[in-house]
Amino acid sequence: MSEQPLPRKRILTGDRPTGKLHLGHYIGSHRNRLKFQEQYECFFLIADLHMLTTKPDKESIEHIAEIARTIVLDHLAIGIDPHKVTFYLQSAVHEVYELQLLLSSLVTVERLQQLPTIKDMAAAAGMDQIPYNLLGYPVLQAADILMPRANLVPVGKDNESHVELARQIARRFNNAYDEVFPLPDSFVEGGTLVGTDGQAKMSKSLDNAIFLSDDAKTVQRRVMSMYTDPNRIRADIPGTVEGNPVFVYHDTFNPNKAEVADLKERYRTGNVGDVEVKEKLATALNHFLEPTRERRAAYESQSGFVDELLYNGTLRAREEGKQTLSAVRRAMGLAGAWNRISRAAEKRMKKSGQ
Ligand code: TRP
Repeated sequence: MSEQPLPRKRILTGDRPTGKLHLGHYIGSHRNRLKFQEQYECFFLIADLHMLTTKPDKESIEHIAEIARTIVLDHLAIGIDPHKVTFYLQSAVHEVYELQLLLSSLVTVERLQQLPTIKDMAAAAGMDQIPYNLLGYPVLQAADILMPRANLVPVGKDNESHVELARQIARRFNNAYDEVFPLPDSFVEGGTLVGTDGQAKMSKSLDNAIFLSDDAKTVQRRVMSMYTDPNRIRADIPGTVEGNPVFVYHDTFNPNKAEVADLKERYRTGNVGDVEVKEKLATALNHFLEPTRERRAAYESQSGFVDELLYNGTLRAREEGKQTLSAVRRAMGLAGAWNRISRAAEKRMKKSGQ
């Protein structure tokens, strides 16, 4: 007798469509997805409804499709297998909206107000008051997570409290109604990459990023203008390697450890110019990005491929959403209320010949 293989555990994670992916995203999070796709059933969403919590303007909305395509292509370029993961557009899965509302009785306003993330996001967006959907951001995230009944949720440290809330909501739902949801765990991803300007974090809005889609010339240019040791005004002055972005990148992306050790030694003793350090870094980065560029070009040459992938993934997510929502409505007894009313109405209409 052959045994049925156990269904693989599920992962749900995603990105707001606010811009293309850069090396900071890759190091802090997206490279993990390459491993996840081998072990888990993966759902990667484009969280455009979450984007609306801070950017509901028409212009941002107009860019959703284009940025969604870019983000999916960035994933494929780093080696995500389109056959192994489901990409979907959150706003096109109506069950997510429905689930968010049905889950909202399981969380209090006070609980949400205590989350520092909400205030931080409001402040970062320059808001002095919190819109209703921003307060509900973690409830929407819980709906994302529970919709495909995910087991594991990879997120940055800042989003850990949101997964904790999703877990609490799932537990409360199961206790109040029926066992519908597995309790999701977070997988806290780590590591930020310093920006090219030496600021703590690489970010599009700080204009200190190297994008996965940058071509070799752009990478070269960005590296040559990188921030290094500001006290080192001449090549023969001993410099500091620790925390110096150029060496942080060398450590992260240059596989030639002997070269890096030699550069560090000469930098510390004032025996190498910034130009040589940077040129070797640009070479290493371009070497690292080359396979990414090749995969990107291959997918780009298949016109419509990314759209078809997102389209089919979204249909797949809708199917998941339908199944979960029907289980949710059944567990809550909402299905029963409507059934009683509709059955009685249909009976009456049949009798009167309507
Ligand atoms: N909140 C995530 C961000 O900071 C995006 C996101 C939305 C998400 N829904 C999710 C992440 C569900 C993990 C799981 O961009």
